[in-house]
Amino acid sequence: MAKLISPLINSEFAKDVVQGLTTNPKYLRSKYFYDYKGDQLFQQIMNLPEYYLTDSELEILENNKEKLLKIMDSGEDFNLIDLGAGDAFKTRILLKHYVNQSIKFTYVPVDISQNAIQRVTEELQHLIPDLKIEGISKEYLPALDSIPNGARKIILFLGASIGNFSPQETILFLKRINQTMHKEDLLTIGFDLKKDPDIILNAYNDKSGVTKEFNLNLLNRINTELGANFNLNSFEHSPRYDIEKGEARSALISKKNQMVEIPTLKISVSLKKGEPIHTEISRKFSLQDIKGLAEVSGYEIVENLMDSKNYFTDSIWKKAD
Ligand SMILES: C[S@@+](CC[C@H](N)C(=O)[O-])C[C@H]1O[C@@H](n2cnc3c(N)ncnc32)[C@H](O)[C@@H]1O
Repeated sequence: MAKLISPLINSEFAKDVVQGLTTNPKYLRSKYFYDYKGDQLFQQIMNLPEYYLTDSELEILENNKEKLLKIMDSGEDFNLIDLGAGDAFKTRILLKHYVNQSIKFTYVPVDISQNAIQRVTEELQHLIPDLKIEGISKEYLPALDSIPNGARKIILFLGASIGNFSPQETILFLKRINQTMHKEDLLTIGFDLKKDPDIILNAYNDKSGVTKEFNLNLLNRINTELGANFNLNSFEHSPRYDIEKGEARSALISKKNQMVEIPTLKISVSLKKGEPIHTEISRKFSLQDIKGLAEVSGYEIVENLMDSKNYFTDSIWKKAD
């Protein structure tokens, strides 16, 4: 009888899991947090009192929606491309305002999560019936590459997701976006700013334990989709903040010596007590860091929009001349 093998076993997810769990130190890529449950848990994280990032960026967008409209709208049709749109909870401030002002644009949410794109499209169509929306369920760069040239591109990369890349990846990513842009296009990036380390650390270590569940869900996903036998109770959620580097790092720490089997991928993963599996990096920036990043990747800063606490900035960039 033919053996049934799930197509997921040959997926990029499976390959990345094998790569990350058979190296030292072990890691799992944070883009895999977002399955159906991960999307829901992230929505809960955004509502946590400790997760100041949402309120800061909401305040920026609410206070600057008119200014942003003036910067973004030149009277011609444009594509408002939202990289990693999630539930577009914050972007909808702009969407409602622009539709109310009868601005000609198409909203293009991009997300690796098919579930997120489906939900955001349905929700927004119901909430803002006049909104033109064309979602793309792909990774950031393939999605950008697939958008035809023509209409101006106004690209949003909100929510401090830029901080999830390593320093080298950040510059490569920004340079690649730059290659897809024309002179009149704009890129707005949400940067979480360096601040009191306790405030930062608490954002990744909430009292109610939602961030812990979000992190552990990654192991759950490997269990369900790839047939692993991770025991979630044998791992501790461990966030750290390195002030020198401006890096918040989350890891799952093995509570004991243990062996995890993933027979479908033909690997056994041996973990020592106290050994981490790194899951996420969230880098923090100064305005000086942001200026340096823009310059080195071929941009000029148009404006840094700040919240009242100076916790966060939405930095608007154009291609350098
Ligand atoms: C931190 S959430 C931010 C959501 C929203 N932009 C906000 O500011 O609230 C990150 C979103 O990016 C998506 N994402 C993560 N990695 C991605 C990738 N490589 N390509 C496309 N989307 C990705 C996730 O599915 C998730 O919905």
